Amino acid sequence: MTSGIKRVAINTGGGDAPGLNAVIYAATLAAGNRGWEVVGIRDGFNGMLFGDDYPDGGLIELTRNRVRGIIHQGGTILGSTNRGNPIAYPVQQPDGSWIEVDRTDELLGRFAERGIDALITVGGDGSLTIGNQLHNAGLPLVGVPKTIDNDLDRTASTFGFDSAVGFASECIDRLFSTATSHSRIIVVEVMGRYAGWIALHAGMASGVHAILIPEIPYRLEPVAELIRERAQRGSTYSIVCVAEGAKPVGGEHTVAAKAVGQAERLGGIGHKVATELEAMTGRESRAVVLGHLLRGGSPTSLDRLLGLRFGAAAVRALDEGHRGVMVALNPPTVDYVPLAEATSRQKTVPPDCDAIQTARDMGIRFGDESLADG
Ligand code: F6P
Repeated sequence: MTSGIKRVAINTGGGDAPGLNAVIYAATLAAGNRGWEVVGIRDGFNGMLFGDDYPDGGLIELTRNRVRGIIHQGGTILGSTNRGNPIAYPVQQPDGSWIEVDRTDELLGRFAERGIDALITVGGDGSLTIGNQLHNAGLPLVGVPKTIDNDLDRTASTFGFDSAVGFASECIDRLFSTATSHSRIIVVEVMGRYAGWIALHAGMASGVHAILIPEIPYRLEPVAELIRERAQRGSTYSIVCVAEGAKPVGGEHTVAAKAVGQAERLGGIGHKVATELEAMTGRESRAVVLGHLLRGGSPTSLDRLLGLRFGAAAVRALDEGHRGVMVALNPPTVDYVPLAEATSRQKTVPPDCDAIQTARDMGIRFGDESLADG
């Protein structure tokens, strides 16, 4: 190909996800095999903007030797941040207030200074939206979708999701024996932001009794009713899987924190649901928050493979002259979609999808059922 690329950079932005290192591995080898130099930018764009703060200047030379043995490692060898938006960079003023500074020109200047011809930017909706804006500002780049939440549109799946669901399911399996032994209700809160994919898939795979997701605002009466019915039948324990973004009918998401320059952090719904169910059923309840455990650990082989396919596809996309696109899983292939389209909406759980229907057929409650007594 005649892409004109001699030196390409890779960065990872937003929350980490199992499979990021597989992307870095495949992209490094695919680019190296084309004779391109590859550098990794530390901590999103920070290594580029604030290189002097890093002992290595903020860039890691990525070679076959440097990436050897990383496919199975969780996290990202480059580091990541969800505070480093170069287009609206939060800067604290002497009076303690915050302003947002647009560092786009500075960033593009650094890419030119360091002789980088193109960027592979790996991230979720926030990072890829930034990627699209940088593409519009003239930075040649290709995006790679990443998130455990599976909420990116225009790709059938993202790496990290399978690892998160697998681990959540393993944890829920373990909670069954302690819930049974103590005749308790256990409410398990899982990540997912404004999408219920992790709660739905992990909850179904482990056979929980109720699943609460953002896409189906809930009332707890139908869940409490099921718990009482189960107790009458002799099953004195119940497991509820709740997505961190779940909200009651007419209510809002439960926000744990909101900091300058960051998206609101969700969390706390699990404890609320456990407390309310205990009051409604008279049964002892506990809440377990799986949180960042879902982002840690080694990726599943499915996520490794997807990461490898995305990393190599990103290099092919650049080599074929594509810019401003996201590589996307479109089974059985990986193709390219415009970043602007991919980031224009979130992929949430369709309330009438097959998985929800299957769960309902199994008697799993979502909190929108009508009560037996009307
Ligand atoms: O998007 C991935 C995710 O893990 C969400 O599921 C969660 O809401 C958020 O990131 C947590 O982010 P932080 O790393 O800021 O705690």
